[in-house]
Amino acid sequence: MKKSLVLMMVVLALALVACGGGDSGSDSGATESSGPDVAHGEKLYNQTTIGPASAPGCITCHSMEADVVLVGPSHHGVGARAGNYEEGVSAEKYLTESIKNPDGHLVDGFAAGIMYQNYADELDQSDIDDLVAFLLTQ
Ligand code: HEC
Repeated sequence: MKKSLVLMMVVLALALVACGGGDSGSDSGATESSGPDVAHGEKLYNQTTIGPASAPGCITCHSMEADVVLVGPSHHGVGARAGNYEEGVSAEKYLTESIKNPDGHLVDGFAAGIMYQNYADELDQSDIDDLVAFLLTQ
């Protein structure tokens, strides 16, 4: 009985070490070397809530269909036009800023303060990078 308990604890400890090592090692290694994850970005984009505070998800306000305005503008072709809004601002930077600081640049015809404002605090930078990578494919 006692012996098996000790054995169990050893096994548990080994499992913890293995998991911890695996998480920090292979995970970050994978995302660092392969860059932003488009598939993960798409998954995040399509969630009805996002992040630990269950913020409203992107699809609750944005459609990928052309000219379909839900609450925010259609994201049809957003990746293609994102680089053309501001002189010297890349598509990637524009999209990142649009998520982190929605009122910094407003899409024509839309008011400030409507898009959810706290994604910068609630989402990891890597999640925002993945969302941007996904939007760039549109
Ligand atoms: C509560 C509604 C709402 C939610 C939720 C929302 N948005 Fe928005 N979004 C808007 C509105 C309204 C605008 C237009 C005003 C502006 O430019 O901020 C906008 C604008 C944008 C733009 C600029 C689009 C363009 O054509 O220039 C991007 C990019 C964007 N949102 C991405 C996102 C992403 C990614 C998410 C999810 C993480 C999200 N939005 C969630 C309402 C929302």
